[in-house]
Amino acid sequence: MTPKITKAVFPVAGMGTRFLPATKASPKEMLPVVDKPLIQYAVEEAINAGITELIFITGRNKRSIEDHFDKAYELETELELKNKTKLLDIVQNILPNNVNCIYIRQAEALGLGHAVLTASSVVGNEPFAVILADELIDANPGALAQMVKVYEQTGSSVLGVHEVELEDVSSYGIVKLSDDSLKFNKIERIVEKPQPSDATSNLAAVGRYILTPRIFTELKNTKRGVGGEIQLTDAISEVLHYEAIFAHIIEGKRYDCGSKLGYLEATINLGLKHPEIGKELRNYLQQLKLEL
Ligand code: G1P
Repeated sequence: MTPKITKAVFPVAGMGTRFLPATKASPKEMLPVVDKPLIQYAVEEAINAGITELIFITGRNKRSIEDHFDKAYELETELELKNKTKLLDIVQNILPNNVNCIYIRQAEALGLGHAVLTASSVVGNEPFAVILADELIDANPGALAQMVKVYEQTGSSVLGVHEVELEDVSSYGIVKLSDDSLKFNKIERIVEKPQPSDATSNLAAVGRYILTPRIFTELKNTKRGVGGEIQLTDAISEVLHYEAIFAHIIEGKRYDCGSKLGYLEATINLGLKHPEIGKELRNYLQQLKLEL
């Protein structure tokens, strides 16, 4: 029996420079897509996959993330007094009762690998998930839930991957699958941000990981890599010497909400699906198309 995955790490200490000035004083993970911040989509995906411990690796200017998942006494009292029960329900049910939040402050942002290593004492000696909130994946079942299925059958680490354009590979960790992959896609190699000319495939890691605790052993010895950062990808590459790691090609629509265009695409597509405004947005877009 493989141990159940109950913990997810959310690295949220990044500076979000691609969204300045919006992210000057507030975290990029709090940017809303329609009516929910990015981090809430990520947390909901985790909870749907059975996660009950949410471990946020935070940094400066990230207080609003803590507040978002905390009780909001004043707001709740106000909504109660005004009898706004629907809104009260939304505010009170952001997290189910059985889910706990843990916040760890990463004093220095030395890279994704460093952020994950910061969680080691809280995660302990068990497999866990990592979710990058700026990759929003609209899928049913959710991306992490799909990966948990692969983990349960293989007992190994699983990376969520997606095909990207060859010209974009230098923005991602790129995996090469082994030729002897049978039922599951075994990873042979993983390289952080290769040049298109060096890339062995166009399968990119898209911010969803299920990792065994072996990763912590490797992260402790991982030197700074691409961009001068301690890269999670480099540590995963070391784990490959000792353990099998599988890739799951995520079924669903992925939005790179770390980029302005991806963020707008997510806003439009999720807006179109939204029960409150979907129909009107569709009419508006049709009108706009005629004008363009
Ligand atoms: C990080 C990872 C990279 C991964 C990407 C997904 O890169 O280092 O391997 O493919 O997230 O979004 P970043 O976007 O932080 O540069």
